[in-house]
Amino acid sequence: MDLKKYIGVLIVFTCMLVISACGDDSESETGNGDSNGSDSGTVEIFSWWTGAGEEDGLLALIDLFEEQNDHLTVENAAVAGGAGTNAKAVLATRMQGNDPPSTFQVHGGDELNKSWVEADKMEPLDDLYEENDWADKFPEDLIDLVSYKGSIYSVPVDIHRGNMVFYNKEIFEENDIEIPETFDEFFEVADQLQDAGITPLALGDKESWTATQIFENVLLGVLGAEDYNKLFNGEIEFDDERIVDAAEKFGKMLDYINEDHASRNWQDSAQLVADGEAAMLNNGDWAKGYFNGDLGLETNVDFGYFPMPETGDDFSIITDTFGLPKGIDNPDDVKEFLTFLGSTEAQDTFNPLKGSIPARVDADESKYDEYGTDAMDDFKNKNLVPSLAHGSAASEGFLTKADQAVNIFVTQRDVDTLIETLKNAAPEM
Ligand code: GAL
Repeated sequence: MDLKKYIGVLIVFTCMLVISACGDDSESETGNGDSNGSDSGTVEIFSWWTGAGEEDGLLALIDLFEEQNDHLTVENAAVAGGAGTNAKAVLATRMQGNDPPSTFQVHGGDELNKSWVEADKMEPLDDLYEENDWADKFPEDLIDLVSYKGSIYSVPVDIHRGNMVFYNKEIFEENDIEIPETFDEFFEVADQLQDAGITPLALGDKESWTATQIFENVLLGVLGAEDYNKLFNGEIEFDDERIVDAAEKFGKMLDYINEDHASRNWQDSAQLVADGEAAMLNNGDWAKGYFNGDLGLETNVDFGYFPMPETGDDFSIITDTFGLPKGIDNPDDVKEFLTFLGSTEAQDTFNPLKGSIPARVDADESKYDEYGTDAMDDFKNKNLVPSLAHGSAASEGFLTKADQAVNIFVTQRDVDTLIETLKNAAPEM
């Protein structure tokens, strides 16, 4: 009897110890000043990867992180809308209200630097790069995109390419179509498709960035990489006759799009190509992830790819990165997440699903299909240019105006108005 009583007391005492230990943990979870390596916490990841073709990579990343770090929990705070259409506004409100998420998706280049680093909202991550020996694990050009005045401010998880056209292979084969390389060839192919009763080019510009992305690629084709960069560095004016030429060519491309473009988003436009209703799509290679994943299409069997006309020597970079906002409660937990995000394992889990290539140079190529290995080669060998539509080439203020101007141009086709609006907005770049 006595022994039983003794064991009972022991059990109650042990339970009390466990409960009190749990109490300590929950305190750190709510972020009560425990910012120095607590063994329990929540990392809130803010992004716009919510839907088809977007979410799979993120969820795989979160699962792997939680599996490897069972003392941390992830809160997935994604806000729907391609290219951050809605997320960026929500983020701006939270940042202004001093309520930053633990970490947030942000494009390398001006979106990171002009919107957040210059405003003193981000912590530098040079120590993290040093601790993880990352200096030569990410390409120098990429580190430059996430650096400001000599310090590094975010960790890139992917590299997307923006200047590829994805096409329906069956349509091209049945119509005996060769890959167009120049704008003239592109328009010939488009005429041929139109005569055959097929929509040549799919567009879903319910969110206007998709049209801006086509326009930036036409600009790249007309100007070449060097002058494209000069344009966004303010060294070439928007009323340069080549920009007028690009606007005209862009307008001509719009003669070949689906009528219901304004009611479709990027996924809906990709579906037109998947279903054989349209032949080609120019969007980032997240569309490739969508074709493979959600739509079950096979690369180089069901769909093929080629660069936008006259951009074969170029690679339009879109890189999603995550940083450490100032003023969060548990920076050490977030650094654990960022360390994970920069690992080869995380990058090789995320990118094959997302359609992108890893930001790291030492990825496991066997995890990627032919599109992925082609993109890795091209990233090393082509001229790299930052995307306007995805926040790297110019400030958010300029991009908002450019998106609006392009959106109006899609319906009105007034070259002069487009050029004038861009020229007037240029000082904001
Ligand atoms: C881009 C982003 C990609 C993809 C795409 C469509 O801005 O970099 O990762 O999500 O938008 O939403």
